[in-house]
Amino acid sequence: MDRNLALELVRVTEAAALSCGRWVGKGDKMAADDAATNAMRRTLESINISGTVVIGEGEMDEAPMLYIGEKVGNGEAPEVDIAVDPLEGTNICAKGMNGSITTIAIAPRGGFLHAPDMYMEKIATGPAARDAIDINLPPAENLKRVAAAKKCYVEDLTVVVLDRPRHEKMVEEIRKAGARIHLISDGDVAPAIAAAVDGSGVDLMMGIGGAPEGVLAAAALKCMGGGMQGRLVFMSKDERDRALKMGIDDFDQVYLAEDMAKGDVFFAATGVTSGDLLDGVRYFSGGAETHSIVMRSRSRTVRFIKSQHYFDYKPTY
Ligand code: FBP
Repeated sequence: MDRNLALELVRVTEAAALSCGRWVGKGDKMAADDAATNAMRRTLESINISGTVVIGEGEMDEAPMLYIGEKVGNGEAPEVDIAVDPLEGTNICAKGMNGSITTIAIAPRGGFLHAPDMYMEKIATGPAARDAIDINLPPAENLKRVAAAKKCYVEDLTVVVLDRPRHEKMVEEIRKAGARIHLISDGDVAPAIAAAVDGSGVDLMMGIGGAPEGVLAAAALKCMGGGMQGRLVFMSKDERDRALKMGIDDFDQVYLAEDMAKGDVFFAATGVTSGDLLDGVRYFSGGAETHSIVMRSRSRTVRFIKSQHYFDYKPTY
């Protein structure tokens, strides 16, 4: 692909953030998600791509918009696959808590792992420690290896973990190893990316979260040269059957970022509420400021973009 689609994608995540930003703290996660999805869908219509959603809001019968298989874009070349999470962290947005983002990624046709809506075990870190992590090793061993790769003490590392009962044992092991933990209530995509940003204060993201979110994080980490490994977690036979239908037959496979997002990948995300990675939407008289990250795997350029939007000149959805 010759065009840098990432710079067009940021308009999509900005529009979604500006829309769902109005719902921050209002206690209605569905309305916030709908606002983001609507804005994303409409803005995508103006982008010169012929896109197919492969990671989206759900199957066609359960999501009215940005469902898996939906065609998006204005129908012109190039033909691409799209992974979206219009509002990642619906609960945190509804509660006005830290770390919700709007996000989208693009890959050439067939580039994304078609991850079913189920769980994935994940470990993610930045370029310095990308070759040090191994999802098969216990947390303490990974921490030792990451600390060695980053030339610091295990005690200096901060690991982000979703605050869930399923992570109790892992949290205990991380604490015993001596690393710091940042427990989050939702939204594991942004911290996975933050682990690859120098100065973010995050070194690793570990634990079990959504598989579609895993693919989005993988797209971003691939663009940054970071490391990510993921393994699907099957909770039922139904989930195995669904995975088989989506072409996954090795249920134990460990996916690297490059396996989940192949080819020339573009990624964009905009903050809705502030977090380790991005600032949230800030409204001012007549407009709002957004903070986004935009990147492309081929060039490895990572751009942080602060934009000011004036509502008299640009309507929000
Ligand atoms: P939503 O944005 O759909 O609310 O999901 C957010 C999220 O926290 C993801 O970031 C994470 O991967 C997943 O949900 C964790 O799932 P669960 O809440 O079932 O533990």
